[in-house]
Amino acid sequence: MDKTQSYIDRDHTYVTPVYKSLPVVLERGEGVWMWDTEGRKYLDFLSAYSAVSFGHLNPRIKKALIAQLEQMDIQARSFLHKHLGEFAESVCTLTGLDQMIPMNTGAEAVETGIKTARRWGHMVKGIPDGDQRIIVCKDNFHGRTTTIIGFSSDADYRRGFGPFDGGFDTIPFGDASALERAITPQTCAVLVEPLQGEGGIHVAPKGWLKQVQDICKRNNVLLLVDEIQTGMGRTGKNFCYQHEIDRPDGVILGKALGGGIYPVSAFVSRRDILEVMTPGSHGSTFGGNAIASAIAVEALKILTEEHMAERAAKSGAYLQEQLRGINSSLVQDVRGLGLLIGMELDTSRVSTELVCAHLLEKGLICKDTHGTVVRFAPPLTIEKDQIDWAVEQVRSVLAALEPVA
Ligand SMILES: Cc1ncc(COP(=O)(O)O)c(C=O)c1O
Repeated sequence: MDKTQSYIDRDHTYVTPVYKSLPVVLERGEGVWMWDTEGRKYLDFLSAYSAVSFGHLNPRIKKALIAQLEQMDIQARSFLHKHLGEFAESVCTLTGLDQMIPMNTGAEAVETGIKTARRWGHMVKGIPDGDQRIIVCKDNFHGRTTTIIGFSSDADYRRGFGPFDGGFDTIPFGDASALERAITPQTCAVLVEPLQGEGGIHVAPKGWLKQVQDICKRNNVLLLVDEIQTGMGRTGKNFCYQHEIDRPDGVILGKALGGGIYPVSAFVSRRDILEVMTPGSHGSTFGGNAIASAIAVEALKILTEEHMAERAAKSGAYLQEQLRGINSSLVQDVRGLGLLIGMELDTSRVSTELVCAHLLEKGLICKDTHGTVVRFAPPLTIEKDQIDWAVEQVRSVLAALEPVA
């Protein structure tokens, strides 16, 4: 414990606490498992917010990384390397789109989508530069840059960080008629998560995304879908929008695209849209470097060759059914798609933080989101007996916290 405490003390002294951390220091990961510095073993039911969808230190990702490290690190983006073209081709084949701009973090890929949509709005749609507007949804989460938090509806994300540059209009998530009303001649794009993850695991009403697409088409507005958390098989399809539509105008990827090992993100779109992004208009020193690209190529192969979406659909349906079967008055709702599941608790009687702390003590890593919901998002490689064990821990923690009548 002394060793663990010394890590915690050093962290708390020198690391600015922008995340509330739990008193555990993790030092090893393999598949669905993690171990702390005391040698305690945990089942990972969070997957680093969906970044580790294919399991910790996935052997194929690790092999691709090591093979690339034997060859070359990074090069300046003005020079080509062998893997970026293959990475882009794979992403385009899977999404049915034409081209991609590689970045590193999710927020950067969202920014790339915003920049592209604004430039398209000006150069193609003819909106005067500076007047372009983008429609977003209430309770969105698209990252932490100043532009992105400027259109967050969470006051905590914004407080003290203004001024914000504007140009965004907010509608309720899942409300197609509000979208219809919000569109003006200045609207260049609609930016949505097909399922809101950070916002509290909100599944959109059936048919909504299709309606959004129809409205966008009718009004010559681009539909950009943020699949950073929901993509790469997580919700039971390669990309969550595929539950409803063939393809949007732009897809934003991150997290699991880097195989849980390396930050890799991308904005993917059609050629006629991306042609507004000319040399010098955008860039990133590390975006699409040889290591990132070699990893992404492998991650995309794992996604299809190992049928990750099908596994998420099957295991997710089973996990939801088991969680629904827990007889606890503290549970208000269980919802989600594939292996992105939220359990909403009656927070007037129990805090989600307390539930997560108790689950951690039992060896289950999970995290609350938005205060009222515990998110369950294990690696897509999770097995049935591991799900059964996890559900048993949830059942016993809720039973222990259930107020005596
Ligand atoms: C839907 C969505 N968009 C964007 C982001 C931001 O990604 P990053 O933290 O890699 O910048 C996240 C992160 O949780 C996300 O869930």
